[in-house]
Amino acid sequence: MDRRNTLGLPRAVAYELSEDEGRNPSRQPTIGDVVNQRFGRRDMLRGALAASAITAIAGPAILDGRPASAAGTSRFVFDEVPHGVDATHHVAPGYDADILIRWGDPVVKGAPAFDPHNQTADAQEKQFGYNNDYIAVIPLEGAADRALLCVNHEYTSEELMFPGLSGPQDSKDAQFKDMTPERIEIEMAAHGASVLEIERTGGKWRVVADSKYNRRISTRSTEVAITGPAAGDARMKTKADPSGTKMIGMVNNCAGGVTPWGTYLSGEENFHGYFWGKMPEEHREAANHKRYGVPGNWYNWGTVHERYDVTKEPNEANRFGWVVEIDPTDPTSTPKKRTALGRFKHEGVEPVLLDDGRVVFYMGDDERFEYVYKFVTAGKFNPNDRAANADLLDEGTLYVARFNADGAVTWLPLVHGQNGLTAENGFASQADVLIETRRAADVVKATPMDRPEDVEPNRVTGKVYVMLTNNTRRKPDQLDGPNPRADNKFGQIVEITPAAAGHGAETATWDILVQCGDPSVAEVGAKWNAATSPNGWFGMPDMCAVDADGRLWIGTDGMNAKSTGTADGLFGLESEGEGRGTSKQFFRCPAGAEMCGPVFTPDQTALFLAIQHPGEDGETWPEFGRASTFADPATRWPDFKGGMPPRPSVVVVTKQGGGKIAS
Ligand code: FEO
Ligand code: CA
Ligand code: CA
Repeated sequence: MDRRNTLGLPRAVAYELSEDEGRNPSRQPTIGDVVNQRFGRRDMLRGALAASAITAIAGPAILDGRPASAAGTSRFVFDEVPHGVDATHHVAPGYDADILIRWGDPVVKGAPAFDPHNQTADAQEKQFGYNNDYIAVIPLEGAADRALLCVNHEYTSEELMFPGLSGPQDSKDAQFKDMTPERIEIEMAAHGASVLEIERTGGKWRVVADSKYNRRISTRSTEVAITGPAAGDARMKTKADPSGTKMIGMVNNCAGGVTPWGTYLSGEENFHGYFWGKMPEEHREAANHKRYGVPGNWYNWGTVHERYDVTKEPNEANRFGWVVEIDPTDPTSTPKKRTALGRFKHEGVEPVLLDDGRVVFYMGDDERFEYVYKFVTAGKFNPNDRAANADLLDEGTLYVARFNADGAVTWLPLVHGQNGLTAENGFASQADVLIETRRAADVVKATPMDRPEDVEPNRVTGKVYVMLTNNTRRKPDQLDGPNPRADNKFGQIVEITPAAAGHGAETATWDILVQCGDPSVAEVGAKWNAATSPNGWFGMPDMCAVDADGRLWIGTDGMNAKSTGTADGLFGLESEGEGRGTSKQFFRCPAGAEMCGPVFTPDQTALFLAIQHPGEDGETWPEFGRASTFADPATRWPDFKGGMPPRPSVVVVTKQGGGKIAS
């Protein structure tokens, strides 16, 4: 999620403002005198550097009419989708993009038919939630044609969900006035996650209705356990839970991952927005909450549920911002918040299995000037005994990254008693280090990054890709190697190469794969391989998937008619060989939507995409040019029926006639 309708402001403005509260105070440049030193030193992206130099002089004509495949430099075999913005989605020619499931479709047995004009919280709890984000596909019982689809429901877009809300230009009071207690319950029921059994018949995937695996996890009613070093700490205790070990719900679940033992990980991202009220400045948690932007006052749940009001339950916010582990094979299992992996605005949590059996998970904290993390389990994965892996995520070492000017990465352990994480700095225990992960990372002098989104290991090449989506607050005197542009509107992708000792080591090296944005506009400072066509570049990288061939696929968040002249999409980005830095557009979202989820089946014949918040941001699309609402949405994708609002949906892409995608 990049921005939200809040506080009566356009979403983008609300998001920018929200970040004024929770900002990293230690934003000093760590290596400010090395602007682009890394670029100057390395020969990476020969083509991209050439393209940048050429386009600065000659403009886009240099790139015109040269599809990357014609140049023989990209392994992505498909004809590109053109840039643009319209009411529907577009996929490369020769592919089908079918709707698999939509907001409101039945998930569990007994779910009523969707009626957005008469929605209830009880119905919503049985139906597919709102704003689908990360998707996991976990093959079921080893079968190629059956799988569990796990989907995060990140947030809700009230003005598109509920009749009568007049849109984000309204005042805060007007917006919240229409968010009645029943609507708040619906919102809470629409957050969380869905688990669905899917099966392939006749080459097409479909949801298995009434499967015993089908499950909704909701913010409204699902009991969640808190485990690991922070569980039971005094700062985790509330009136409703004097044990500090259990609670209702998870919130703002954005990206995630799948463990080697087949559980699904779901990261809580912008949890601060759900807290209400004004934190008393003298309170013990005041500085901690400020560091995370709590309370964000994005939702008025605190008017109905005391625990979301920081004046009434100041510890509740410490119980959000964690990675949640869910066993999708057991619909009665209790999701677990794994505190050992740290508390921040979690994006992806993607694993790599070490030769010795330990498992490394890469993670990003999505806010301006926040950090990149990894967690290394203490115990070893046992492939022969699934139950033996059940609590591997409760013990291990959390590290944060420092990106050095010489191209080295140092992974700094966040361990109580080490590197200044001591009582004199306010860390009395490992629980304190984890509850205040951001401050711990400040103390050890990690590198503040341009909004780390997904951090994705490529298990074919062994490299790791960090999506840095943008950072318009970075000033010219705050530049460093991996964050080389001030007022960075379009983001960049950083590549981490582990040391010879592997992903568990405390050192690595880094490089920049691409600097995003339109290469035909010199001031943007974009760097792509020259084989990238005028339809191939993108901005605001967010989600990343790696297919079985080790190719990168990038989903974007924040492209629109105003920001880039084109909607969000999915792009194949070459990371190897002569074609390194060449991007091609495979799929384009309908107006207002963000490209989430991308994930392939292991045989690479199907690609699942989550189309999030279609129809948001009507103002930025000149053809619509006004607030997008339930009654008057910018698009009615995917149903295009009168009276039916747009619906966040999962799309499944397959090649017509079958076969591997983009091959
Ligand atoms: Fe939910 Fe940072 O994307
Ligand atoms: Ca995002
Ligand atoms: Ca994201």
